Amino acid sequence: MSDVIEQAYDADRFRREGHQLIDMISDYLADARADRLEVQAIPWQRPEEQLAFWQEDFQKPLIKSPLGLFEEVMAKSIQVHRKRYIGHQTTPTLPVTVLSSALIALLNQGMGVYEMGMVGNTLEKVLTEHLANKLGYGSGASGFITSGGSLGNLTALLAARAAATDIWHNGYAAGVQLAVLVSEEAHYCIDRAARIMGLGQEGIIKVPVNEKFQMRTELLEQYYQKAVSEGKQVICVIGCAATTSTGSYDDLEAIAAFSEKHKVWFHVDGAHGAPAAFSSKYRHLIAGIEKADSVVVDYHKMMMTPSLSTALVFKRGSDAYKTFSQRAQYLWVEQESEEWYNGGKRSFECTKAMSALNVYTIFRTYGDDIFRENIERLYGMAEKFAAIILSNSKFELAYKPQCNIVCFRYKAEGDLTPLNLAIRNALLEEGRFYIVQTVLKGELYLRVSIMNPLTTVDELQELLQNVEEKAAQVLVKV
Ligand SMILES: Cc1ncc(COP(=O)(O)O)c(C=O)c1O
Repeated sequence: MSDVIEQAYDADRFRREGHQLIDMISDYLADARADRLEVQAIPWQRPEEQLAFWQEDFQKPLIKSPLGLFEEVMAKSIQVHRKRYIGHQTTPTLPVTVLSSALIALLNQGMGVYEMGMVGNTLEKVLTEHLANKLGYGSGASGFITSGGSLGNLTALLAARAAATDIWHNGYAAGVQLAVLVSEEAHYCIDRAARIMGLGQEGIIKVPVNEKFQMRTELLEQYYQKAVSEGKQVICVIGCAATTSTGSYDDLEAIAAFSEKHKVWFHVDGAHGAPAAFSSKYRHLIAGIEKADSVVVDYHKMMMTPSLSTALVFKRGSDAYKTFSQRAQYLWVEQESEEWYNGGKRSFECTKAMSALNVYTIFRTYGDDIFRENIERLYGMAEKFAAIILSNSKFELAYKPQCNIVCFRYKAEGDLTPLNLAIRNALLEEGRFYIVQTVLKGELYLRVSIMNPLTTVDELQELLQNVEEKAAQVLVKV
């Protein structure tokens, strides 16, 4: 072995640097809790500046220890553990998962076949069956873990297609137009999945939403009949639990009744909101989910797990094997049989990270209770924030929030869209708060996802003050 290889695998060096890294991470976590006012949630830099920095860095002499590099990365990254990080639905990961992530990186299990992921494949079964139970499924329900909600939803739609027609083996016959029914507020990955599957524009039937941004389920029958009269074969109806922009839960009972009547696959995109299953207080939001044929749940959104880690659960566990029936002689002896322990038979990925270990570690350390508490704190905080907005005449609430996603805007004379966009951009550049924006019915709103269970009413009140200050600055300039 050459010198560089010898050094790179040196255990003592790793021990030294590992301890330093743990100290650095612990300081960051303590600082995030101490919440010093001057700390930014996002050290905003324009893409060109960021690129110039890293291009220059890449040309520098080799580093003796990675610690300086890690510090630089941290200082230049959005910090999701800050109490004023209330933007996208990214969770402040639990510290214990930083430890399990190190083991995942070290063990580097392949997961596609049992031997390459003996523990991981087994943990996936245990975890997804526990989740299935929480969702209200009976025996026979099972699933696996995949890399993200987008891939999970695509995989579920492929299963729905496999249940309806054998395009997987035969390809599309001329004139066949498959279609899915979904709320116009669904995450864009559903639209993308349908297009990947060759359904095209005609195959994505978007059902309008009501004033709470929930699918108008009373229109399902009409949209279905229209599709059938146009010669389309509807293979799936998708419910959102909840939508991305507004956190609205579709009426899953109504969608289940429709799917039952027409024998159409019922899939729930529960990437964000299905963990309401862990709280008896909020369980009602997902009533009917147990009737779905498949459900996607992102552990990395509301379940405090590092990205990416998504459960895809099937009411009938065996449905999962129909999605990718494929021969891979070098991997599996039994090509067609259903073997839960050979991960690659059901998942899109061949090599896949053992992310199940992160989730399993949380369950074994804190139990279901941590998820109940997280949901109840975050959803409860959103209710409080909405009440504060309602009591302040300078603001307008877009809807009464059902979960931890709240949309609102600053009110003034004139066009509110450019004003609120300018406010959000000013907040971004200052960096103390991180919030985002969304467009609802053609108008721009400020959007907050309260993801940190340590965020309090104080930070949210401070945000509104900050928005008012920014609005005043923007209005002066106009
Ligand atoms: C409701 C919903 N579905 C799917 C996705 C996509 O999930 P992922 O980012 O894990 O691919 C998101 C992401 O925000 C989402 O909010």
